[in-house]
Amino acid sequence: YLQKVKDKGTLVVGTSADYPPYEFTVKQSGKTEYVGLDIEIAKQFAKDLGVKLEIKNMNFDSLLVALETHKVDAVISGMNPTPERQKSVDFSNIYYRGKQYMLIEKKDKSLYKNIHSFKNKT
Ligand code: ARG
Repeated sequence: YLQKVKDKGTLVVGTSADYPPYEFTVKQSGKTEYVGLDIEIAKQFAKDLGVKLEIKNMNFDSLLVALETHKVDAVISGMNPTPERQKSVDFSNIYYRGKQYMLIEKKDKSLYKNIHSFKNKT
């Protein structure tokens, strides 16, 4: 399969560029560019294969269909490997696991011990 991509000379990657910082667009001198963590990974992937990268931007919900109907060679779109999705497509190993935190002021530390502390607070 990778040989097919190499022969073609282009890796076509589907994404939904509405999900910063993973994939989003910036206007660079009037031109729309795709940027973000996933885009960088796709670029490196194409580079390693020695082929050009073509990004196909579409609705998130269209990505798996696009893959299954060969409109794209691969998808990278901050997509989690849910059991439902795993029924139809093959996910790579996890390349990024987010660690997100909520912050409060130090002085309020005793007020918020856990998630239940947020009940009935205004
Ligand atoms: N991580 C979530 C999921 O797998 C949302 C991903 C949305 N990605 C996007 N490019 N809009 O469902």
